[in-house]
Order: sequence, then C-alpha cells, then structure tokens
Amino acid sequence: MKITTLLITAVMAMPPIATSAPESPAERDARMAWWRQARFGMFVHWGLYSGLAGSWNDKMVADSGGLEWIQKLVGADTHTYAAQAIPKFQPKPGFATEWARLAKQAGCQYVVFTTKHHEGFSLHDSKLSQYDAGDLLNRDLVREITDALHAEGLKVGFYHSVIDWHHPQYDFTKSKQLPYPDGGAKLATNPRDHTRYVDFLHGQVGELISNYGKVDILWWDYSSEDFQGDSAWRASDLMKTVRAKHPSVIMNNRLFRIPEAGFSGMGTDDVTNQMDPKYGDFVTPEQHIPDVGLPGVDWESCMTMNTSWGYNAHDQKWKNSKQIIQNLVDIASKGGNFLLNIGPKGDGSIPEESVTCMTEVGRWMDTNAESIRETTASNVGKLNFDGRITTKGKIHYLHIFSRPEGGTITLPIQATKASLLAGGQSVQLKSTPSQTTIQLPAELPDPVATVIRLE
Ligand code: GLC
Repeated sequence: MKITTLLITAVMAMPPIATSAPESPAERDARMAWWRQARFGMFVHWGLYSGLAGSWNDKMVADSGGLEWIQKLVGADTHTYAAQAIPKFQPKPGFATEWARLAKQAGCQYVVFTTKHHEGFSLHDSKLSQYDAGDLLNRDLVREITDALHAEGLKVGFYHSVIDWHHPQYDFTKSKQLPYPDGGAKLATNPRDHTRYVDFLHGQVGELISNYGKVDILWWDYSSEDFQGDSAWRASDLMKTVRAKHPSVIMNNRLFRIPEAGFSGMGTDDVTNQMDPKYGDFVTPEQHIPDVGLPGVDWESCMTMNTSWGYNAHDQKWKNSKQIIQNLVDIASKGGNFLLNIGPKGDGSIPEESVTCMTEVGRWMDTNAESIRETTASNVGKLNFDGRITTKGKIHYLHIFSRPEGGTITLPIQATKASLLAGGQSVQLKSTPSQTTIQLPAELPDPVATVIRLE
C-alpha cells in the first residue's frame, strides 16, 4: 500500500474529534426523541430510610410527607441514624427484577432510581465511601437494579442527591435554604472544606457513569437560590463529564436554581417554561401538574402515590389508579412526562397498594398506550367536556373521563372518522369543515378514561 493510502486509511479509522460546538436544535430533538415519546416513567426512592418505614425509636414520626427525610425530621446525626437504620435495610434477593417487571407491565419505558439520597448512603459499591452497599451489605445494589432494568429493556435513570447529610466535608453552613439535620450540625466542629466534598461528589458520579453500562438519564437533586450551580457543585463540569461518557444522556435542571434554569423560587411549584439548555434538558414540577403545561420546554411531573417518596408504613393517603391514569392523560395532553414514584420497603419489596395501582395502570395502558406514547400536546383549544385530548399528526385521541349529559361532544375541528381505541368499534359523528359532533355510546366502556380515536 502506498504511504498516502495508508495515511488516509489511518485517518478514516480514527474516532471523530470531539468538538465543543453547541448542539443544534435538530441534534437535541434527536437526543430527546425517546424520552418525549415515552411519556411515562417509574421513579423509585429507596435507601436506609426505607427500612425505618416512618418510625424512629419504634414510634411513628409522621403519617404524611416525605419520610425519606426522616433523618432531618428527627434531627439525628449520621452515626445515630445509621445505627438505627442499617439493621433494617435488608434487600431480599431478586427485588430488582420485581421492580423492573412492574414498571414494564405498567407501561413505563424508563425507571429513575435513587443512587444516593440526602442521607448520603450510596447504593453502589463505591471505592470512595464506606457508607455504601458494598461495605455494609457486600452487594452492589446499583448493579442489581441496572441489570434488572436492562433485562426488561427499560431505560436507566440515576437520581443523585448533591445534598449530603453524611459526608464530613459537605459544608451545610454555606446555605440557609438547604436542609441539614440539627443533630449533625451540633456534632460538626471543624470548618469544612466543601471543595473536598465536591471532589467526592464528582468521584462518585464518575463511578456511576463508568461501571454500569449506558446511563440514559441523570436526575440531580437539588439546589437552592443561595447555593447552586458552579459555585456549589462545579455543576457545569459535572454535566460535561457525564455527557462526555454518555453523549445521549438526558439531565434535569436541579443542579441550578436560577430563572434561566426554569426556576422562579424555592417552592416545588416554582417552575417556569424558560430554560437555557446549558442548565439541563428538562424542568421538574414536583407533586403537581402545571395548568397549561410548560410550552416551549421539556418537562416531567414527578409524583408520589401516597404522600411520601420513601416508604412510610403510616401513610395511608393513597391515590387510586383512576386518579393516576387521569393524571397521566392530563400530563400527556399538555405535552409533558409523568414520573410516578414507588417507595419500596427495606427488603426491596413494593407496597401492595403500589403494586395494585401500577397493575391497573398497566391494564389501561395495554389497550390505550397508543393515545399516550408518541403523542404531543393537544392543540384543539379549550374543551367543553370532562376529559383531555392528545394529538399524533392528524389523529386526535379524546379521553373521556365522564359522559356529558346527552352524550354529545362538539369540537372545533373537522374529522372524518371516529372509533373506540379499545376494540375499534366506530362512533357516530357529524362533521362540517369547522366542527365535529360526536355521539357517545349510551354507557362509556371505560369508567376511567374511554379513548376515542378521531381522524
Ligand atoms: C425533593 C425532595 C426529595 C425527593 C425529590 C423528588 O427535592 O428533597 O426528597 O427526592 O424532591 O422530586
């Protein structure tokens, strides 16, 4: 071979040189495509708090609210907390397969789970910490979970808390707005070197993105107005490192708390539809669904099934599957994603109420997923019936929650064909170029949400 041919061959075999050119809107759309199409994911909060199950010294702490915060609620320092919580955290073999199968069955296409929550306990086998599943249980729970998710063909999301109530150098004094357990604060004497904590944070994230195959989502949690972004977490670097390893990764905006990153304050409702992509890919309204969605940005409402993210045996305020399905429909009709939480117990088993609910959602999705996945926000305008509309190209999916008196629905669009999505039976319609009237069957076949496919 001639030298020039050799050279050309060698150059062609070289990996493309990484450029720092900003992502084009088309590249971004391609990267976000699967996530936008999925519409529905499962969230999992699981850590040492799960074993405590809402009790401290065998007494109930609260019957509502986020009990993954139990260490803060009882004001325990990390040693006292760990001593009580560790013996109660005993994952049974095969727990992760149960999670993955439930998510799949429910119609979720991705799962985001806590690799470390605010308590600071790492679910992976970390070389950088002894407060981790590797040291305490001789297991790598992140591996067990990611393997189980991959086996079901689900996308993998890592929730990771940047707040840390365990690490001795995490400097809680730098923020008045981020929580820290009183007992921990009282014990701390040294001035803390927060840069060492940030090195640790970057190191652990480095382990997570290197050792478990493809990471599809990084779900950061969280920052405050007085402590956020580059000064708090070296956030831009952190995101860059993750992207370098996983170019198609999708990340939320919670390393920041500024208006340019979709925040308007410290409340869980304080989200806006303003976001510069350099701060993340999507906005995260928590425990609520924005009235008209968040047009112009990608967003995901995350929600609990009772009132706690982490398992609380005392919380009986369960939503039923009807509410959950209607929430999913509502969110899809506004162009968002739904991240629905389960809080497994200390042995990894899923509370029965959640299993029942997810199974019922799955049954609905089995026949109706077409009206959720790959749809976009409805552009039909204000509706005069109890329900929601999702859109896919020239098809509108009408989700009827309750039958209006007389059973007719009029929409300001022209349609030529209407049929029940479940079963395909046709539905009577009258149409003019500017409106369509549909005559619903005498009884709605699905009391939760009957879907009509309108062409
Ligand atoms: C909050 C809470 C937390 C929960 C999360 C879910 O930031 O601190 O406990 O993990 O939101 O969105």
